[in-house]
Amino acid sequence: MLFPAVLGFLTCAVSLSSAAVTMENGMPMQWSKTVSQVTDFPSKDGVLTPNPWHLPHRMSFLRLMINATDPYMESMGPNATNSPVWGMPVLLGWLLTSGRLADPTIATTCGKEKGDPMCISPNSWWSCINYYSTALGFLSAAQKGFFGPGVQVQMQVPEGEVDYCTTYDDCAARFSDAVTAWDAFYQGLKDAKESSLPDAEKKDSLLGLYWTARTASILNATATCNSRLRHYSTREASFSKSWVDNVEYLAAVHYHSDLKTAEMFARPLPGRILKLSDRAPSILDMTKEENHSLYIFNWMDRINFMLGGSMVRLWRRAMCSVAAREKGREMMEQVLLNPAFATKTFISIITEMGVTC
Ligand SMILES: *[C@@H]1O[C@H](CO)[C@@H](O)[C@H](O)[C@H]1NC(C)=O
Ligand SMILES: *[C@@H]1O[C@H](CO)[C@@H](O)[C@H](O)[C@H]1NC(C)=O
Ligand SMILES: *[C@@H]1O[C@H](CO)[C@@H](O)[C@H](O)[C@H]1NC(C)=O
Ligand SMILES: *[C@@H]1O[C@H](CO)[C@@H](O)[C@H](O)[C@H]1NC(C)=O
Repeated sequence: MLFPAVLGFLTCAVSLSSAAVTMENGMPMQWSKTVSQVTDFPSKDGVLTPNPWHLPHRMSFLRLMINATDPYMESMGPNATNSPVWGMPVLLGWLLTSGRLADPTIATTCGKEKGDPMCISPNSWWSCINYYSTALGFLSAAQKGFFGPGVQVQMQVPEGEVDYCTTYDDCAARFSDAVTAWDAFYQGLKDAKESSLPDAEKKDSLLGLYWTARTASILNATATCNSRLRHYSTREASFSKSWVDNVEYLAAVHYHSDLKTAEMFARPLPGRILKLSDRAPSILDMTKEENHSLYIFNWMDRINFMLGGSMVRLWRRAMCSVAAREKGREMMEQVLLNPAFATKTFISIITEMGVTC
């Protein structure tokens, strides 16, 4: 079935401007179509069988993860939107509205306006990478008992796809880095509940575990997903690479990706897939903010290349204390969101920071 509102939205996004839209009515895209309890998923012989290739189900994983972990997230702040996990549904919303979940080939109409707009294509590099954060995060939460005792899950898999793991055991065997990191995050949440550490320390440590899980999922997924990059322009492929780097920069500062912050960071992301002719910051149909963020992404990539791939490593090493991470967070905001920020100060600050820890 087609959702007229989504079709209308996509048409509008294509014809007017390509600014990234990640939310509707103050919530991530399609939030109203998500399930509110795991038992709302289909099941077979007592095993839940959600379909991660159907957007409302994939989005539901995130809603359920947020809901189940909220009681352990007191250190993140008093509001219902303070969990860092909110960053994931906002990101998924951007992937949806920017067309990145759609089939990049002409083989199917999966995820396309004039096809099945709620379909997530297993051929898309972005869908593939995102699978390992959302599905593994969900499987690990179920395994750790966050949805109640003995909840078993087997992910549906598109016909003919063999790359994607479907159960906790299967994923833990093939993507052990990612699953181990998610397990550690959920264990950390339980430990924090019992711990008498001050909230600020709990928060920093939980955010560290959360980002380790996010980056481990992405890095562990690239080996499997990167073959899908051939379906895109070299511009989009290089953007995807700098996007991964960007996640590592955010991870190093233990970014607190609550709903509001995540939305702010997602807004300047490119609202459509990049074409070969796109040259930031001179892309005519993009907003000033999109032009800027793409320019910065390219710039970071170039610097990283010039330094022999060591910029991310340098940055990670500099973010070695709570105070340094605080400074780093401010700088990420400046560099990505403020077009007036001079890129050269970035490097001098990193170098300076390196010696203060
Ligand atoms: C989780 O969802 C249930 C069912 O919708 C709801 O009753 C509960 O308040 C939610 N808990 C949190 C912490 O959001
Ligand atoms: C919680 O929400 C209130 C009201 O929207 C806001 O003023 C406050 O800054 C929020 N606190 C945090 C920690 O996000
Ligand atoms: C994921 O990480 C684990 C542990 O490093 C490794 O054994 C496995 O091969 C990785 N999986 C893929 C598909 O790269
Ligand atoms: C993006 O950059 C191009 C070239 O500099 C410019 O023509 C376009 O107006 C920019 N978009 C906005 C909204 O500033």
